[in-house]
Amino acid sequence: MYFIKKDPVILGIESSCDETCAAVIRGRKLLSSVIFSSATEQAKYGGVVPEIASRAHTEAVDEAVKKALSEADLPLTAIDAVAVTYGAGLLGALLVGLSFAKSLAYTLGVPLIAVNHIRGHLAASYLCDEKLEPPFITLLASGGHTAVLYTKSYTEFEVLGGTCDDAAGEAFDKVARILSLPYPGGPNVQRLAESGKPVIEFPKCLVRGTDMQFSYSGLKTAVMNYCHNAEQRGEGFNSADVAASFQCAALDPLIKKTVQCALKYNVKTVTVGGGVAANAYLRAELIKACQKANLKLVLPEKVFCTDNAAMIAAEGLIQYNAGNFAVMDINASAQIPLK
Ligand code: KG4
Ligand code: ZN
Repeated sequence: MYFIKKDPVILGIESSCDETCAAVIRGRKLLSSVIFSSATEQAKYGGVVPEIASRAHTEAVDEAVKKALSEADLPLTAIDAVAVTYGAGLLGALLVGLSFAKSLAYTLGVPLIAVNHIRGHLAASYLCDEKLEPPFITLLASGGHTAVLYTKSYTEFEVLGGTCDDAAGEAFDKVARILSLPYPGGPNVQRLAESGKPVIEFPKCLVRGTDMQFSYSGLKTAVMNYCHNAEQRGEGFNSADVAASFQCAALDPLIKKTVQCALKYNVKTVTVGGGVAANAYLRAELIKACQKANLKLVLPEKVFCTDNAAMIAAEGLIQYNAGNFAVMDINASAQIPLK
């Protein structure tokens, strides 16, 4: 049994992919957020190599936690709970953060909170706007998930729609490869798209005849066929136009459906989460669409859309307030459902 404090100091730890992150919050106030990335090392291989990620986490996790505490100007003993990502993600990578968090929580005699990574993305908005309260609609788009969610209370949400195949971020990464852009794909497609025009008619990512079902595999194939056919004809193609056209086809329906859901459910606030929410086009278009529909938009800074530990601490706070603590023998899990 643990005593539930009002504004607990929570240490968040995140190591599900190629970023080793630690952050400290007090209540909903962010005190520090540290991100060490092995992306430069991974870029040599064109994507994330799990073994490289695990080794990098092992080397960085201790330093990340020390730095987060030092930037928060707090000693280890100030921590009231340790929140850590236990899934989904790369198993070896997750195990590094989880083992570290378990030992720390055990040594300090404080609760361990096991956080679902994707729910962390959903919780990031609570730090960006300390007054944000449910209900709200969230557009969640990362490397593994694409969904529109209806958060009804701090612990309850409904999935209103999502992808039936690839995630939006995955499609960005695949299109980056088709266009021979280096890892990480998403930001590079965005950069290239900025100098292009959306003049190519790619199929939109909304499945025809459905209201809330997205699909990215057909769009990716359409981009691949367009480039391949142009090359076969010896014509070449304008890769900036391809990037810009793909970006619109991939993001416009997400923006439109997110706003439609807010109106349909009479919810006044929209939030975003996940790496794709760092996309400049998506952010600009969502601002316009929410203004037009008279909706409040909570848009976390880009660094809190991509992987970070502040969001893990934020979801940790929700679980802490619900008294939802993990047992010490909890295991990491490569795949866990959103709900
Ligand atoms: O949330 P995240 O950092 O990790 C996962 O939980 O998956 O999301 C990573 C995904 C990658 O697919 C990456 O290409 C995409 O987010 N991404 C972007 C941008 N920044 C990251 N996609 C489009 N535009 C961006 N600026
Ligand atoms: Zn993520």
